[in-house]
Amino acid sequence: MAKKYKVIQWATGVVGSAALGGILRHPKLELVGLKVYSDDKNGLDAGDIAGTDATGVIATQDVDAIVAMEADCVLYCPLPWSTTEICRLLESGKHVVTPCPYWFPFIQNRKAAEAIEASCRKGGVNFHASGCNPGGIAERFPLTFSGWCNRIDRITMTECGDCRTYSSKGVMRNLMNLGKTPEEASTNPIKSALARSWNEPIDMIAEGLGSEVIRYEAHHDFILANQPIETAVGIIEEGTIALNHYRHIGITREGTEIVQEQIWYVDDIEQTRLQRKMDIPRQSGWRIKIEGDVNINIDIDFPSELTQDERVAQGISTTAFHIVNAVPIVCEAPEAGLKTYLDLPMITGCMGTHSAPR
Ligand SMILES: NC(=O)c1ccc[n+]([C@@H]2O[C@H](COP(=O)([O-])OP(=O)(O)OC[C@H]3O[C@@H](n4cnc5c(N)ncnc54)[C@H](OP(=O)(O)O)[C@@H]3O)[C@@H](O)[C@H]2O)c1
Repeated sequence: MAKKYKVIQWATGVVGSAALGGILRHPKLELVGLKVYSDDKNGLDAGDIAGTDATGVIATQDVDAIVAMEADCVLYCPLPWSTTEICRLLESGKHVVTPCPYWFPFIQNRKAAEAIEASCRKGGVNFHASGCNPGGIAERFPLTFSGWCNRIDRITMTECGDCRTYSSKGVMRNLMNLGKTPEEASTNPIKSALARSWNEPIDMIAEGLGSEVIRYEAHHDFILANQPIETAVGIIEEGTIALNHYRHIGITREGTEIVQEQIWYVDDIEQTRLQRKMDIPRQSGWRIKIEGDVNINIDIDFPSELTQDERVAQGISTTAFHIVNAVPIVCEAPEAGLKTYLDLPMITGCMGTHSAPR
């Protein structure tokens, strides 16, 4: 029988609970542990959290018990995340796959990169950060398409997200900076963390192109709500930020511009709830635009017949399922260390015995 990888799911928020469901359905994975933070999830069977039959795996808040557990890999999905915690898991001999940083930390987060590399070597295991964006749109897909090009003048990755149904308070109100007054937003320490997070995939693209970034830029624009706006994380009040437009840019030695752009907002495309309108290319979805001797637009979207709730849920699933699918590859990657897309073979889906119902 093919080997099954023993996996621990760490945190069951929006992404973590989708990942938990993904582990339970994956033919090459076996759930052996579940770490939760919330008191009301502590002691529950994983099946109760994932909405499946009982699994016999009981959720625990006990970090020491999780660290002591025998397992191949931890899917680490908390908010906030902790480098110390990641290193402890690695040193306990478990591979770690995560949608949290660090995707390519060698320049922006050098200390964390060194600590993670050292812990990987100690534990004889690998670390890999993945997801949808970063983890796919921000670097993996543009790098793949760069193979179709020769001279590249600019690569722009744009994420447009009507986030009203995203139910993570931490992501919406802190990471995305929505619902804050302009003063609160400008002093939110997340600003510099965001710059580092988006500069990581910029650096990975530069490295993948055989170059390096010689200058970084960061631009932030926002629009306030003209009325209270209902969202899954409560009301975004009138006069607070209801649209954030971030652009992080890296310019390489050869002058190629690598642009990571996000338009995160809480309205529909008409923007009647905002104090002014922005030219938003689409309600939700991503565009990768390459300009050079080959010009390509790659639009990634969900079918228009899906509701906005379904589109957000499927967006979350792409992050969760990608980290789940990465487990066997990360566990098998040679030479313990921090693995980026530049080190790993292609990560594919794995239907196994779980083909679509007939
Ligand atoms: N790369 C990508 O494309 C991508 C996309 C989306 C999200 N993310 C990242 O994925 C992570 C999870 O996102 P999410 O949307 O699932 O967030 P979320 O819904 O807010 O879930 C975070 C979970 O962390 C746990 N938690 C609660 N308090 C905590 C604390 N004090 N310290 C650490 N963890 C705590 C909780 O687990 P329990 O519920 O089990 O108690 C909570 O549900 C975030 O770090 C986010 O930035 C990445």
